[in-house]
Amino acid sequence: MNLKAETLSKIDEVITHYPVKRSATLPLLHLIQEDIGHLPPETSEWVAAKLELEPINVLEVITFYPMFRQKPIGRRHIKVCRTLSCALVGGYKTCATFEAEFKTHLGEVSPDGEVTVDFVECLASCGTAPVVLIDDELHEKVDAAKAKQLSDQIKAEAKKR
Ligand code: FES
Repeated sequence: MNLKAETLSKIDEVITHYPVKRSATLPLLHLIQEDIGHLPPETSEWVAAKLELEPINVLEVITFYPMFRQKPIGRRHIKVCRTLSCALVGGYKTCATFEAEFKTHLGEVSPDGEVTVDFVECLASCGTAPVVLIDDELHEKVDAAKAKQLSDQIKAEAKKR
């Protein structure tokens, strides 16, 4: 697995927090996903070796939880809240705007590799719905017009690279 040195040391440290090694499965998967952006196929075997498990035990965890991604995502991750408060004030339209702007569909990498748009559940900012998380940054009151504005911003930043 091609992980950063920092991730590898966090992994070794996290394992020491648990009296039973297998309990570290979820934290390890989160750390790997944070580093690479998704969980590549070799993850099950690698984590299993670390935690003295069978690869199938790890694969079961990866496939059970929807927050784990087995496919790569775009450079930017746009997460649109679809829970009630956001849905009621246009969250679905916000999402459709991002999809149209980047010519992509939910959960897929846009053709330019720039973004993946996903729905997520409540982001705990219901009073400023619709809410969108772009990478780690929360954006509030994102109606279709603001979604277009944010898309333009992402495209402009991509051009500078
Ligand atoms: S419902 Fe969208 S942030 Fe709570």
